[in-house]
Amino acid sequence: MNGLPQENPPPDHELNPVARLAALAGSDMERVEALIADRMGSETELIPKVARYLVEAGGKRIRPLITVASARMLGYEGEGHHSLAAAVEFIHSATLLHDDVVDDSELRRGRRPANQVWGNAHSVLVGDFLFARSFMMMVDAGSMEALHVLSRAAAVIAEGEVRQLAAVRNIEIGVETYMEIIDAKTAALFAAAAQVSPILAGSGTALETALETYGRELGLAFQLVDDALDYGGLAEDLGKNTGDDFAEGKMTLPVALAMEKADADEKAFWTRVITDPSQQTAEDFDRAVEILNRHGTLDATLTAAREHAARAVSALDAAPSNVWSESLAALAEFVVERAY
Ligand code: IPE
Ligand code: IPE
Ligand code: MG
Ligand code: MG
Repeated sequence: MNGLPQENPPPDHELNPVARLAALAGSDMERVEALIADRMGSETELIPKVARYLVEAGGKRIRPLITVASARMLGYEGEGHHSLAAAVEFIHSATLLHDDVVDDSELRRGRRPANQVWGNAHSVLVGDFLFARSFMMMVDAGSMEALHVLSRAAAVIAEGEVRQLAAVRNIEIGVETYMEIIDAKTAALFAAAAQVSPILAGSGTALETALETYGRELGLAFQLVDDALDYGGLAEDLGKNTGDDFAEGKMTLPVALAMEKADADEKAFWTRVITDPSQQTAEDFDRAVEILNRHGTLDATLTAAREHAARAVSALDAAPSNVWSESLAALAEFVVERAY
């Protein structure tokens, strides 16, 4: 799904919360999608070609939906939220182009990642272009404060990705460092996507804090679920391969918790597969999943995600109660139930 209006949409009660929110925000999202399509444009033909390849493959558009829904919830009546929502999706798209180079991924949005089609150089440079265009769209919205929040988020994401790079293949990475990394690489953009709306709407600092908290907690829940799905999800649902974190030697919460519970044998296993993933054998992934299930650490990761999602919902108590706040709350529930 890509947020575009469908010709014959199914009845509302059959849609999942993201699709329901996309339908509710239909006219706004049409503007956002039009801006996205327009601002990928360049006379340097390879740029729109590579960008379109990623953007048209779909994606859930969760982050721009958060910006639009928050702005609507707060009664904002201008148009700045369209530029900011498109800017948010561009930042996300740029990080995906770069992330697939860093992670050497083989599947993104159900397709070969752009770097597998055109090469790493193209993905890095087109990612840079999307970043630059995102800043131009932030300026279009006309708010220095929103520009500050989103540009800081872009820097924090890069810090998170670099920190993760330094943490890969390090069996010592515990829960605290892991949470700091996902806070930076994922939650920062969710937080900024939500926070810019009260800034645009002039809703005051209390609502800014509430929406920032909503986005951050939702982002943490989102990445926790993503990391659990890497061991328990299905590639055809996710549009990306499972087992990638394990194959890369990436420490995520399920493994960090399993290390805390490991006996000597299991400690030796995790140390071998994480510190030198190139030596992993075909059976190692199944053994990893078996250990994670036996110690209940995938469930514990999902429980942690549920707690963060509940905090996101609570943060909305400070906001007006309307159809938009209801959809934002439903989105938080979807994030922890999702299979994709
Ligand atoms: C993927 O985000 C990157 C993570 C933070 C895990 P999404 O799952 O929102 O990606 P798309 O946009 O729907 O493809
Ligand atoms: C997601 O990184 C966060 C960013 C893209 C900045 P991951 O590497 O954990 O996510 P996937 O699994 O590639 O989507
Ligand atoms: Mg990554
Ligand atoms: Mg990745």
